[in-house]
Amino acid sequence: MKEQSLSSAEPLWRKNIELPQFDKLQQSVKTDVCIVGGGITGITTAYLLAKEGVKVTLIDADNILNGTTGHTTAKITEQHGLVYDELIKNLGKEVALNYYQAAKEANDFIKNTIQQQDISCGYEEQDAYLYTNDYYYVDKIENEFNAYNKLNINAELVDTLPIQIPIKKGLVMPGQAQFHPLKYLHFLLRDAINNGLEVYEHTVAMEVERNKHTTVITKDDHRITCNYVVSASHFPFHDSEGLYFTRMYAERSYVIAGKTDTKVKGMYINVESATRSVRSVTIDNEDYILIAGENHRAGQGKSSIGHYEELQAFAKTYFDVSHIAYRWSAQDLTTLDKLPYIGPITDGDPSILIATGYRKWGMTNGTLAAHVLASYIMKHENNRYRELLSPSRFKADPMVKKLFTVNANTAKEFIKGKFNFTGDTKVDELNQDEATITHNKGSRIGVYKDKQDNIYSVDTTCTHLGCEVNWNQEDRTWDCPCHGSRFNYTGEVIEGPAKQPLKKVSLDD
Ligand code: FES
Repeated sequence: MKEQSLSSAEPLWRKNIELPQFDKLQQSVKTDVCIVGGGITGITTAYLLAKEGVKVTLIDADNILNGTTGHTTAKITEQHGLVYDELIKNLGKEVALNYYQAAKEANDFIKNTIQQQDISCGYEEQDAYLYTNDYYYVDKIENEFNAYNKLNINAELVDTLPIQIPIKKGLVMPGQAQFHPLKYLHFLLRDAINNGLEVYEHTVAMEVERNKHTTVITKDDHRITCNYVVSASHFPFHDSEGLYFTRMYAERSYVIAGKTDTKVKGMYINVESATRSVRSVTIDNEDYILIAGENHRAGQGKSSIGHYEELQAFAKTYFDVSHIAYRWSAQDLTTLDKLPYIGPITDGDPSILIATGYRKWGMTNGTLAAHVLASYIMKHENNRYRELLSPSRFKADPMVKKLFTVNANTAKEFIKGKFNFTGDTKVDELNQDEATITHNKGSRIGVYKDKQDNIYSVDTTCTHLGCEVNWNQEDRTWDCPCHGSRFNYTGEVIEGPAKQPLKKVSLDD
């Protein structure tokens, strides 16, 4: 299948929705709280704080709601894959129970807010299913069910699904939900603005300076002086001494939305590889089925088109899909123990708060993060999830093993990149909208030719820690296989931890 047979890359959530636009920050400002990142974490935190009369300024490097939140599948559930059995075994029953309760409270907040404020955002209760079609995973599903029983989570084992996908075993958690994330967050944003929130788009936070006050310094050298900084930008834009790039890994995943006449009930995700996550959406009286999956380490693996084709084949096999109307991809981070990092960036730095590592369960974890971060800022001492989610936690087992695996993969990619020198196509044979790798005076150079025949060449050495970036044709980006930084074809950063652009080079040098 050729690329032309697929829809162009755009999330379904953008269909017929008008989001407000905001100016770039043009001057230095003072505020109580500076939030960096306009996704579910940033906007919900702003909503909670602005309601309490806190002066909040939110900045986003791009447009708001255009990062991972704008590319989600928007399931609202406490069923976060196979997690509770592992948490009980590795970290104990209390930790597992706390995580479940934290997730449930976050999801209840979403539900109650939608009901109380009468937000029209397609909120629907649905049962959530974990399933496997591989005998090897049947035990794992049964162990997860036993873990649910230990934690008093209402669930049932099943041998069939209400949809046509064959299974060996499934586990259903009733009373979960799905919604339209942008419609919901648009409401929270408007409410926060009515309570004094200021928003600036296309404003890139580069660094944090700490004197009497904390100051965020933007790429244009404007200063946002504040008492607290909230890094809600996915990868913390400021690492301090947290070394987060050694403690998380980035994965990309893919979503397609197929047009259907048969609305699917329930939300589904399998537990084996390759991942297949399923839910329905109705927008403007039209039904779609969302299929997500094909997760892989960012910057590694086959072309994006190949991943979409796999999802499309799955959709056509099991669902009544007339055509694929939308497709998009997203990147998310996983921590060493699978729990998000939410709280002060380091123990000695209470004015810089971070939220990251949601492991693709961003609707729940982003909402949870907003509550935990707001409790720090409001100095509410009674938030019982602080210790559970503290970014400074470290339990030797299994983190040491995972730390080794994450960084061994990074080292392998570092070395591989240095020897993987040239692309298949020579620069003077490049077609429009195509890229290749060449070398010049000992440097590995990435070259992209756009649709107007303009050539853009960059040194492919990632400005974070020196791994070699790879071309992503789907998004026209250079992606780093080590810690997930992404750069556009001109070399500008679109996703950290890198802060500096790729070095532009001239092929004539
Ligand atoms: Fe760390 Fe590229 S993101 S080396």
